[in-house]
Amino acid sequence: MANAFFEIREPENESYNSYAPGTPERKKLREEIDRLKGQEIEIPAIIGGQKIKTDHQQDVVMPHNHQHTLGSVHLCGEKEVEMAIEASQQARREWADLPWEERASIFLKAADLITGPYRYTMNAATMLGQSKTPHQSEIEAVGELADFLRFNAYYLQQLYREQPYSPDGMWNRMEYRPLEGFIFAVTPFNFTAIAGNLPLAPALCGNVSLWKPATSSIYSSYFIMKVLHEAGMPEGVINFLPGNGADVGNPVVESEHLAGLHFTGSTGTFQHLWKSIADNIETYNTYPRIVGETGGKDFIFAHESADVDALVVAAIRAAYEYQGQKCSAASRMYIPESIWGSFREKFLEEVQKVKYGDVEDFSNFMGAVIDQKAFNTITSYIDYVQESDDGEILFGGNYDDSEGYFIEPTLVLARDPHFKTMEEEIFGPVLTVYVYEDDQFEETLQLCDTTSPYGLTGAIFARDRYVLKKMSDKLRQAAGNFYINDKPTAAIVNQQPFGGARKSGTNDKAGSAANLMRWMSMRSIKETT
Ligand code: ALA
Repeated sequence: MANAFFEIREPENESYNSYAPGTPERKKLREEIDRLKGQEIEIPAIIGGQKIKTDHQQDVVMPHNHQHTLGSVHLCGEKEVEMAIEASQQARREWADLPWEERASIFLKAADLITGPYRYTMNAATMLGQSKTPHQSEIEAVGELADFLRFNAYYLQQLYREQPYSPDGMWNRMEYRPLEGFIFAVTPFNFTAIAGNLPLAPALCGNVSLWKPATSSIYSSYFIMKVLHEAGMPEGVINFLPGNGADVGNPVVESEHLAGLHFTGSTGTFQHLWKSIADNIETYNTYPRIVGETGGKDFIFAHESADVDALVVAAIRAAYEYQGQKCSAASRMYIPESIWGSFREKFLEEVQKVKYGDVEDFSNFMGAVIDQKAFNTITSYIDYVQESDDGEILFGGNYDDSEGYFIEPTLVLARDPHFKTMEEEIFGPVLTVYVYEDDQFEETLQLCDTTSPYGLTGAIFARDRYVLKKMSDKLRQAAGNFYINDKPTAAIVNQQPFGGARKSGTNDKAGSAANLMRWMSMRSIKETT
């Protein structure tokens, strides 16, 4: 319960550095990039606060220059998982008993470190390790990560204040207990902020976590562990277990202490983990909470009344920023015949200006895709289009992995609304557009709703208010994050809580009190007075 003297004021979203030419922050970021590139670090597992080295090491390379090594990482297996479970259970009670204000202060301190002395490190580590531009790194590895930490602390305070009614003669109260066990956080490569939030949101609520970062983004995740250490996070609360999925995941799901899964990643892995948890259900001391965000086939749907200039900007930004590797990225588009000509002309004019390449050249708008596997998958779709009669590449289609995993921003025209690239998740800079007859508007809305099993993000464009209402109603279940006359990416904490339903996840919005509720088990207490 909050005491009378401690109050977290409602935070404001962190502001972003522009890194414009000539600014001091641009110089500082360049210096930090050079510093990180000039050293090779050894990334250990961190278990019970101890740095643990293992028998399996792997190089950490830069996606935009895969010959350059940033360091090496120690990969974990069963032995380290067992150590981490033990360490987490030792840390659990003391952490849960710590007054929530004491816990929250660590997270608030971590946010200040990220936006203060670690700002350039977090940005540069994300740029180099995940091939993000300075802007894309700044908005999430600094801004969104700090926002998660600050807003979650604020939401927790508000939640704890929610108390039941007490008539005369009794004192009713709700105790928000952490779960009995540990939370397994499995985090994605594409957002440093999401990677940090998945183990940390449950920990703020008094839980302990085992954190398995994506093997392709361990570098920036390791810097979060450094920040947490500096902020005073006690040993054993967050246990960092780099490793391959099965090597870490299999022993974790067999532990009686598993109390929750906080996941962002592929649909296949999420379903595999869910099934493994179901198979082991009798093993656990408590029913594990399962919270996950998975795939998407995010759309932009334009009506004939749409503002074409706005549509072009939205399509380019949503499809190609961070190389189309945001889970929210637009990858299919429906556009009416009557505005297709002007859209096509403007889009082709604008997309020529999109520069891609080495993210250390700050003028580039796009970097490389994350790794060889992603490169191979994405380019196989481009090859498929090249060989198909039902689709045509209108722009882009070139790729080269000799130095970095570079793929040109690519626009595909689908002649069939069920064309492969209209339906399947690609997770790369490939946007497919289907042009519909204006009088087929309602049927095409229906198609948009039913074409994909996912329901993550989507955007509609129209000027007519009745039409917007109709589109919004028809696509009600098609996206957990829905945008009207705007691109379907770049949700901001406390402004657009993020998450999708259908096959995209459990929709327990990241960056909201609803998400924190999943990490608490409530005790309802009645005391007669
Ligand atoms: N939260 C991220 C976005 O909205 C995924 O783009």
